[in-house]
Amino acid sequence: MKFTLSILSPLVLGALQVAAAPAPDSVHLAPRATPTVYFCGDSTMAKNGANDGDTDGWGNYIGNYVSLTTVNKAIGGRSARSYWNEGRFQAVADLVVSGDIVVIEFGHNDGGTPTSSDNKRSDCPGAGTETCISDLTGETVYTFVYYVIQASKLMTAKGATVILSSQTPNNQWETGVWVGTAPRFVGYQKTAVTALANSAVTFVDHFEAVSKAYLKLGNTAVNAFYPNDHTHTSPTGAQLSAQAFAQAIYQKLNGTTSLQSYIKTPITTVY
Ligand SMILES: *[C@@H]1O[C@H](CO)[C@@H](O)[C@H](O)[C@H]1NC(C)=O
Repeated sequence: MKFTLSILSPLVLGALQVAAAPAPDSVHLAPRATPTVYFCGDSTMAKNGANDGDTDGWGNYIGNYVSLTTVNKAIGGRSARSYWNEGRFQAVADLVVSGDIVVIEFGHNDGGTPTSSDNKRSDCPGAGTETCISDLTGETVYTFVYYVIQASKLMTAKGATVILSSQTPNNQWETGVWVGTAPRFVGYQKTAVTALANSAVTFVDHFEAVSKAYLKLGNTAVNAFYPNDHTHTSPTGAQLSAQAFAQAIYQKLNGTTSLQSYIKTPITTVY
């Protein structure tokens, strides 16, 4: 017994000395003086939009309206589920430091039914803890609300704040008559924020902001934003979506978010 202790004691002492010494990385681990904003989303946010040469995503323009470094992590074709399954939320969480801001906006690729002809993107229907089994992969599929809640928790665990943003509308003037009905994923973002009940996670209704701008602009101008389909906009349309986002954040459309004080003024009023 005595022998064992005499061997261990210097080791224990050594460990304590290491623990007591200042961490060499402490400077790097401290919160940044100015935060970085990360954007997680699909092709409507991504650089080059649908990659067809005609379209672009709004995440490519938001940097013009925010006085912080913006990092666009949006990838075309992704849903809340596939962004989660591919480890992309985790990859963003690995980058963020305390004080950073993460904007999460999905919905365009989240529809469909995972239990029949699953496309690896559809979420389980519902707005709570419902689960489904994929007929394609056999995996347990969760709801949109579940995925964005898990994603938000990854970010807040790193000391980041999160803005759950509702998806952009499709072409609301496609038929020549304005149709403003919101897809269910718009409300799901708000449901997730309510369920989280964490002041570090807030909601902005980007859908509502762009809808108001589209209503104001009218049929001809809005149809001109959609060169190929009713989802992906031209660079001009993407810029409008960025301006509408900035206005919504600045004017606290659905409450104050962590980005509000970093919106460049004067804002461009688009709705
Ligand atoms: C966000 O706020 C606007 C303005 O009050 C409101 O019209 C809209 O319904 C809100 N969005 C949601 C999803 O509650």
